[in-house]
Amino acid sequence: MLTIEKGSFPKDFLWGSASAAYQIEGAWDKDGKSPSVWDKFVRIPGKTFKGTTGDVAVDHYHRYKEDIALMAEMGMKTYRFSIAWTRIYPNSMDEVNQKGLDFYQDIIDVCLENGIQPMITLYHWDLPQYLQDAYRGWESRQIIEDFEKYAVTLFKEYGNKVKYWITMNEQNIFTRLGWQSAQHPPGLSDEDKLHYQVNHHAFLAHAKAVEKFHEIVADGMVGASFAFHPSYALDTKPKNVLAKHDFDDLKNYWWMDVYAYGRYPRAAMKYLESKNIAPKIQAGDFELLKSASEKVDFMGVNYYRSDVVEHNPEDGVDNSGIVNVSGKKGTSTETGMAGIYKSPLNPHLPTTDWDWTIDPMGLRIGCREITSRYDLPIIISENGLGAFDKLEEDKSVHDPYRIKYIQEHLKQIKMAIDEGSDIIAYCTWSFTDLLSWLNGYQKRYGFVYIDQSEYESNPSLNRYKKDSYYWYKNIIETDGEAIWE
Ligand code: BG6
Repeated sequence: MLTIEKGSFPKDFLWGSASAAYQIEGAWDKDGKSPSVWDKFVRIPGKTFKGTTGDVAVDHYHRYKEDIALMAEMGMKTYRFSIAWTRIYPNSMDEVNQKGLDFYQDIIDVCLENGIQPMITLYHWDLPQYLQDAYRGWESRQIIEDFEKYAVTLFKEYGNKVKYWITMNEQNIFTRLGWQSAQHPPGLSDEDKLHYQVNHHAFLAHAKAVEKFHEIVADGMVGASFAFHPSYALDTKPKNVLAKHDFDDLKNYWWMDVYAYGRYPRAAMKYLESKNIAPKIQAGDFELLKSASEKVDFMGVNYYRSDVVEHNPEDGVDNSGIVNVSGKKGTSTETGMAGIYKSPLNPHLPTTDWDWTIDPMGLRIGCREITSRYDLPIIISENGLGAFDKLEEDKSVHDPYRIKYIQEHLKQIKMAIDEGSDIIAYCTWSFTDLLSWLNGYQKRYGFVYIDQSEYESNPSLNRYKKDSYYWYKNIIETDGEAIWE
């Protein structure tokens, strides 16, 4: 439609970057922190690339001042980070760990002193292991009350300083990989019924937190971050177009409709009921979901790729395809839901070394869809390119591919804004390099290179600015105008 391919972003646009506690902090057993499900899971042989762990990660726990100083020098306006539940309530839900609270209090203060708005994610997958052991974590309704308590603690502690809050990071991903494909904790596969039950509990936990949020945090904004996969039907065959609708209901709207409307998509629910895998819903659940949906302030979007959708026969591919965690291009295989859809590669688009489709326009299409369907402000809470980077002898890192990736996505965001989407923030994934859960340290996302590697025993953990660092600095300085250069 309307495309104005020039101009700058709104003056108050939040230019930022995002991270997650487990992927950057390290200090996995320091200052009272207890193990999370990830601390345990990474110790199971074969679960992560070359057995990498977040024990040290990129040592942000000890170097956060240096990292935030680099953000400030760049001119970043917001920094999205997650809080490790295991630092706040390390041993039980009855006892708060002051050292954990102080650590994040200081991060917030240092950000604010540098003109950076903190954006907090409550849950980025690192559930305390003791809750998993006590009642199997997300599989029990007990998690709803515990999550609410954890959330309220953080709202009370930091709500006077932090305006932007994200309840859940990619509920669709941690539940799929945890209960359907065994790639994340608790490492279960084909547990379809449990997968939807776990999701129902996570929705209720999110809803309880949202309900409390506006009572405690004046002028704050709250929402969830969803890993959105905008989709294209393979062609005009009605079967493939129907498969696209099924994909959207089952893979996108199942989450976004609950956050925004407090209800599940009907066709998807009918399908789950027919397979006897629908979640058990108790009296009052929908009232809570509906009430919270009316209090949600934005849709958080993590966008990396779009999907092509094709009809999948009953004996077709399922979830168990090969996932490329090595960076050897072309090693992943097709996945889908037997009898419903499968997702072939898009022949019109390039892919990363990890076989992720690169589709900047898909982000614009996704924002347009959210605007039409939900009419909510949008925070792009993650977007970025995982790539192999090389530290040169003079300590420079030349990453023109990352610059191009972010630049093309920003152009599409600007056009989506011009077309009416209310996009208020853009957080790249990520600011520094970090641990890529299953892919080790070699899959790099940052503007700042960190000397950390699965191939060396004692890397220095020194920080080095990449070319993209200087490029993004200029983008921020020009309010985005420089994306057109
Ligand atoms: C998102 C997560 O799924 O994508 C991040 O919120 C993650 O935690 C990012 O790191 C990139 O995925 P990956 O698998 O390349 O690390």
